[in-house]
Amino acid sequence: MRMYDIILKKRSNLPLTDEEIRFVISGYVNGEIPDYQVSALLMTIVFNGMNARELGTLTMAMAQSGHMVDLSNIDGITVDKHSTGGVGDKTTLIIGPLVAACGGKVAKMSGRGLGHTGGTIDKMESIPNLKVSLDQEAFINQVNTIGLAVIGQSEGLAPADKKLYALRDVTGTVDSIPLIASSVMSKKLASGAQAILLDVKVGSGAFMKTIDDARALAKAMVDIGKENGRSVKAVLTDMDRPLGHAIGNALEIREVIDTLKGHGPEDLTHECLIMAAHMLVLSQICDYETALSRVQEALNSGAALERLHMMIDAQGGDSRVLDDESLLVIGKFTYDVTAPLDGYITHMNTEQCGIASVMLGAGRTIKDGPIDYSAGIVMHKKTGDAITAGESIATLYASDESLLVNAAKTYLEAITFGKTAPVVVDTILDMVE
Ligand code: URA
Repeated sequence: MRMYDIILKKRSNLPLTDEEIRFVISGYVNGEIPDYQVSALLMTIVFNGMNARELGTLTMAMAQSGHMVDLSNIDGITVDKHSTGGVGDKTTLIIGPLVAACGGKVAKMSGRGLGHTGGTIDKMESIPNLKVSLDQEAFINQVNTIGLAVIGQSEGLAPADKKLYALRDVTGTVDSIPLIASSVMSKKLASGAQAILLDVKVGSGAFMKTIDDARALAKAMVDIGKENGRSVKAVLTDMDRPLGHAIGNALEIREVIDTLKGHGPEDLTHECLIMAAHMLVLSQICDYETALSRVQEALNSGAALERLHMMIDAQGGDSRVLDDESLLVIGKFTYDVTAPLDGYITHMNTEQCGIASVMLGAGRTIKDGPIDYSAGIVMHKKTGDAITAGESIATLYASDESLLVNAAKTYLEAITFGKTAPVVVDTILDMVE
């Protein structure tokens, strides 16, 4: 079998056989097939797509390229969630405690920030001393004891995805439905959870810019999960504006705590309650209506906050942050972005809001580069809000003062102002199951 012939075949829009797909993945992971040939194949997939069988085989080959985690020692149905990536998306750290407080078993492996999008593991690391890696036994024990563990993906999990993702990032082949679906689902299948809730983001801050593309991606991922014996649902959520008020690691942790104390932003709280309820249903704990009232009660009673407390303690972190926000380091230099006119915010280019936050130091500009946990943005006004000329619409935080002015310019350019109030959609747009 020759990689050259496989590239030509896919370029002619002919489906690849299962053997050919497995040949590509194993050859790439063990270094026999070079980046440039895989890049060419990825680009043919961007243009010609893949059928359902090819996609299923590709995903399994990627999942099996490394260690398949065995969670069978966890009592009960293990449930995981995955977001396709957004700006201000700190939902895992709110939903996980909500679900655990209602009896769910959340065994979650999360990623780091990518491009303009943030990552749960980076956010968690802004909590002093919190460990984001546990060995398998400790991970399983923690889920059995408190119902919740969130750790980084281990090196050995789906290494094919790791290599392919890095290549896609630099070859213009990220935003392709079969490539995103196989990337996400290979990690989810390898992570071992029996039930999976997918959060497919749609809009200017998401990889999928239209609802139709997001639905197609959701359907592809749900089908892969079901064919592999997992219970899967996808929720399509709005990413045409950042979620909540905070962007940036420590600032987002502050917002997580506020939300679990019952005074978080309305859009964030609403989205988290709905997704947590779906996770309880996927875990076969109760029906949707009961689940919604249980998660609401877990929020109101402080039971979910208590689960976050237990998780931070179990993972060695300083849980005093829950009562003393000064333990979270926030950038000491600030800059207020002001409204240029009386009227409304009519749109937010959410990707660009994320880029402004990266410019402040909150994200990486090179792979494995440094990150400033204290940097970020607090948005006082978002799409649909009325504004008056000169008032602050956002405060930027940095530990390097020289970064503020350029980031403020980028942030302001991301915002569209107008005289008429826009229609603001609900953050939950659709479901695919
Ligand atoms: N998230 C992933 O894990 N993979 C992609 O390809 C895109 C988003």
